[in-house]
Amino acid sequence: MGDYIHTYSSQEQERLFRQGKFLENIVYRSFDLTPYQHIAELGCGNGGNTALLLEKSPSAKITAIDIDPSQIEDARKQITDDRVQFKIDDICQLSEADNQFDCAFICWVLEHLHDPQKAVAETHRILKPGGQLLITEVFNDSFYLYPEKSPGIMAYYAHLNNVQRSFNGFPNVGARLGNLLNNVGFKSIELIAKPVIFDNRTIELRNDMIDYYIELILSAKEELMSRNLVDKSLLDQMQEETNRFKEDPDAVFYYTPIQAIATK
Ligand SMILES: C[S@@+](CC[C@H](N)C(=O)[O-])C[C@H]1O[C@@H](n2cnc3c(N)ncnc32)[C@H](O)[C@@H]1O
Repeated sequence: MGDYIHTYSSQEQERLFRQGKFLENIVYRSFDLTPYQHIAELGCGNGGNTALLLEKSPSAKITAIDIDPSQIEDARKQITDDRVQFKIDDICQLSEADNQFDCAFICWVLEHLHDPQKAVAETHRILKPGGQLLITEVFNDSFYLYPEKSPGIMAYYAHLNNVQRSFNGFPNVGARLGNLLNNVGFKSIELIAKPVIFDNRTIELRNDMIDYYIELILSAKEELMSRNLVDKSLLDQMQEETNRFKEDPDAVFYYTPIQAIATK
């Protein structure tokens, strides 16, 4: 198995594409995509966000880049709009020339990189002066469930984050965004840390969110099982805890992703 913890299976590709739409109101609530003419979407996966960028940036061309050929192959099947060009490339060593784009969009990518600083430096290089980076990243230590009665989910989650660290990834990379951007000369860096809180005001959304999040973390289950960190009884326990959470009128889902808007 490689070091992309979610894997590139077709089941995971289907989940990843759905994720774009599911998280739309969270990822885009602080971004205005309308001014841009040429967007570099870096680590585009199989196009879940590319589809949304097309809708939200009606006049922009999009160059959508991912390192994995199977993601790009699937993205090309999902999206045929000729405003998009898909490319296989490494965000840490882009073949794009300097000063090409007026926007770069990065979503849930830096956590997977050995050297996120290099990716941010490359992004700075390919932006035009005045161009903007819009970025959304994880801060996994912010995950919290009330009532605090989900030890199986929390044990699995700790293993997941530790395995990602052992892959030289960064499950809390969102907290580093200010430094990563400042270090390479981005200006006007705005950090956005708006929590996602679902509780009994919107029970259906809260329950959709826990189902989404459990499905997301389970995408790493084969990796964790192959290391004997997780077994079937823990997976069954997580299912029971998820069901109990959804039936509890007082349950709360909490997570804070970190976003940034910065200018070259
Ligand atoms: C969690 S997915 C997110 C995909 C997409 N941004 C989205 O939100 O649907 C992370 C993606 O980053 C890609 N990736 C990992 N390392 C990369 C690198 N060095 N250069 C470009 N893409 C990379 C993976 O192949 C994967 O498709």
